[in-house]
Amino acid sequence: MYSSFFCRDKQLFGNVFDLWLAGQESTAYTIAWIVLYLMKDLKAQEKLHAELTKVIDSDRFITHEDKNNLPYLNAVIAESQRLGNLLVNNIPRRLISDITYHGYTLKKDTIVVPEISQVLYDEKIFPEPHKFLPERFLDSDGKFQTKPELIPFSIGKRACLGESMARAELYLFTANLFNHFEVSNLHKKEENFFWGGCGKRSKEL
Ligand code: HEM
Repeated sequence: MYSSFFCRDKQLFGNVFDLWLAGQESTAYTIAWIVLYLMKDLKAQEKLHAELTKVIDSDRFITHEDKNNLPYLNAVIAESQRLGNLLVNNIPRRLISDITYHGYTLKKDTIVVPEISQVLYDEKIFPEPHKFLPERFLDSDGKFQTKPELIPFSIGKRACLGESMARAELYLFTANLFNHFEVSNLHKKEENFFWGGCGKRSKEL
């Protein structure tokens, strides 16, 4: 019975479609935010290139083995996920019983929509929350230091199923893209921000 339930074509289609839908634009848009933030903040992009030049120093493929040696890259990804704030409102929940929370009584069956952005933009945890500041994820020794409040994948039992895959994609794509290219804003004006340029990085390091 177990296998006949899971082997139905409809079930398989539904599961694969879920993964495709949930996994595609979320990761692609996050990468787009990373590129745009670095296009806008050329100092941050210079720092990233300096780190890649220092640590990788070649055109070779950057792998997971390099991850711990690239703290600024990890900080750029973390800060882009925080500021990009992909899923502003999390997926709604329905209460299965009456609860009292911080003095508020909520009835069974109430729909609750957790706001991830309230956490990602909490200025007590992330001062100047609307600024792109990768340094907030570096400790005093320059090592990458995440924060428990960085929750773009949500938390709890129903948190993102594809988190580890998404993290791998964001890291590998960003690292290898910026090891080969620099991106810039062709018009140098805020209103033309989306008209970017992309050039091959010189490997005469
Ligand atoms: C940067 C990329 C991604 C972000 C920011 C993201 C974020 C999220 C968030 C916030 C949720 C809702 C969790 C909740 O209800 O508490 C979610 C659910 C989900 N995500 Fe992702 N996701 C990403 C990439 C992916 C990838 C690559 C996959 C799969 C290949 C994936 C598959 C899923 C699935 C299946 C769920 C539903 C989990 C459930 O309801 O139990 N996601 N994601």
